[in-house]
Amino acid sequence: MTIVPGTRFSKEEVAALNRTLEGASPEEVLRWALETFGRSIALAWSGAEDVAVLDMMHRIDPRSTRVFTLDTGRLNPETYELIDEVQAKYESPVEILFPDAAAVEAMVRGKGVNLFYRSLENRKECCEVRKVEPLNRMLKTLDGWITGLRRTQAVTRGRLSKVELDYAHDLIVKVNPLADWTTAQVFDYLKENGVPTNKLHAKGYPSIGCAPCTRAVVPGEDERAGRWWWENPESKECGLHPIP
Ligand code: ADX
Ligand code: SF4
Repeated sequence: MTIVPGTRFSKEEVAALNRTLEGASPEEVLRWALETFGRSIALAWSGAEDVAVLDMMHRIDPRSTRVFTLDTGRLNPETYELIDEVQAKYESPVEILFPDAAAVEAMVRGKGVNLFYRSLENRKECCEVRKVEPLNRMLKTLDGWITGLRRTQAVTRGRLSKVELDYAHDLIVKVNPLADWTTAQVFDYLKENGVPTNKLHAKGYPSIGCAPCTRAVVPGEDERAGRWWWENPESKECGLHPIP
């Protein structure tokens, strides 16, 4: 049954949900999410994981499938191509969010277009303006969001649950259906189901963010080694997913 918009879950309810859903498949988790939230939940979409999740959601209930992406203005051409391909294949409009133009202007006039290379503080400011503020704006309209986060992606994500209360966003629910999947499971799913993927994966980019902050990795390197490669792994979060 779909919840009344504005409903919030308690910590105890979320703990009980995790006991039920920890052993469930991504599709089972997504079925629960779509049945519970209907169109008041949406997928935050950008990477390989997210196209897999979108494909699953679309198979379960295309009418309840909502997907949004944060166009930071600094994405790779291949990522823009993928947005077009996804829109065409799934016939569900990708809700594209842009950063506040005045905030971007003030930041780049004051600190330059490539401020992020000069300090962690600058990098966090750029992520805040280009990603976090637009995300906050979107999440204010929802009771839940779905991500492609996985435990094995990073040291910062090892304790991820399938269902979380999002303390940074008015206690809406955050659903991570692929929490216990490996990278290989994601890419196998994409291949087996003919899902469109970012052409950068074939060029050595397992994880893709903004163009100036992502580079290819060499075989054997960690899958997020190419993200903000000049930083310490402990600090490699952009604010979309604060470390609890
Ligand atoms: S990031 O925080 O380091 O950039 P990552 O690229 O690993 O995140 O993606 C983790 C999840 O965050 C994705 O599966 C997706 O749900 C969400 N996400 C990341 N970047 C974006 C974006 N530009 N637009 C929408 N969602 C995003
Ligand atoms: Fe800015 Fe880089 Fe963060 Fe993108 S990933 S918002 S370009 S600092």
